[in-house]
Amino acid sequence: MTATRIIEASDENYKEAVKAACELLAAGEVVALPTETVYGLAANALDAASVAKVFSVKERPTFDPLIVHVSTRAELSRVAIVPDGIKHTVEKLLNAFWPGPLTLILPKHPDIPDLVTSGLPTLAVRQSANKIFRAVGKELGQPLAAPSANRFGRISPTSAHAVRQELDGRIPLIVDGGACSEGLESTIIHITAGEKRPTITILRPGPVTKEMLQNFGKIERPKKSRDPGSPCAPGMLESHYAPRTPLILLENADDFRPETGKKYGLLSYTGEPGKGYTGLYPWTIIEALSPGNGKLPEAALRLFHVLRKLDDAGLDCIFAEPVSEVGLGVAVMDRLRRASKQV
Ligand code: TXA
Ligand code: MG
Repeated sequence: MTATRIIEASDENYKEAVKAACELLAAGEVVALPTETVYGLAANALDAASVAKVFSVKERPTFDPLIVHVSTRAELSRVAIVPDGIKHTVEKLLNAFWPGPLTLILPKHPDIPDLVTSGLPTLAVRQSANKIFRAVGKELGQPLAAPSANRFGRISPTSAHAVRQELDGRIPLIVDGGACSEGLESTIIHITAGEKRPTITILRPGPVTKEMLQNFGKIERPKKSRDPGSPCAPGMLESHYAPRTPLILLENADDFRPETGKKYGLLSYTGEPGKGYTGLYPWTIIEALSPGNGKLPEAALRLFHVLRKLDDAGLDCIFAEPVSEVGLGVAVMDRLRRASKQV
């Protein structure tokens, strides 16, 4: 058991937090840091022993590779190799979306320990838009391997409090940078050169949507694969983002068969009386993704937060309303399907 300290770091006053995080990271420790998507559990990506701690703290199987975060564009060449055939596309994508929630799968640099990529020849890499996260990487002078700061398969944390719920007593430090501004993990893409246009395969939908990517290439969704190590299947085999309470995605109201004496909660899109499934049942609790107005960015931002609230409410089952699968709705539905183990 390690005593877990939380240091608050506002945008203006974060130097002390950055220093404390760097001291621990330099000593081979792991530290929870805010990113714009979800909180990450960071380690020096070039130090296999530190990376091994990330897997053990999260109870993550070593066949599930980590994302590496660079603090500058120049650092990309230390961790990955950009093939000539896609150089131009990569450059355009980075100009458009970095720093930000877009992760690229690229051939790995030999200096990156195999543990980071679970033995794959490719590496997942992004540059976070969060100032605190980037400042830590810069001051440490090393790329940071950082998966979401939750125990394996559980709901990703979007606040320091949620990180504490997940990892209290397992890590020495959580840097509290406030609530994440996106709330969903980064979009993960793989790029292949084409004769006319490159193909962009969206391996994990996220804040950078298909609509935002389609100017850069032909968009594809991956074929499902049975091989857990396959680059076409990030996080696809395990149930992910899952509350402990069973969750059912109610695509059709006719499928709702309540049992008597059970406590049911509703994850509603707007939460407004008379809308969606709010009137379908005397729910013990209703949580709204986007209270009142039904806006997708707000729904994405609140998803993991409200899932945690419903999970803590002592329910027998959580029922979720579907959201429309356009724009950010694709990523929201992806997480809901995984939470309901429907993938
Ligand atoms: O927004 C995010 O991406 C957050 C923050 C902390 O940056 N990180 C995050 O990491 O979501 P994690 O470890 O929870 O999810 C990384 C996903 C996993 O599903 C993993 O399978 C996939 O990325 N991945 C990593 N390396 C890969 C590779 N070489 N090929 C295909 N998928 C890979
Ligand atoms: Mg994760």
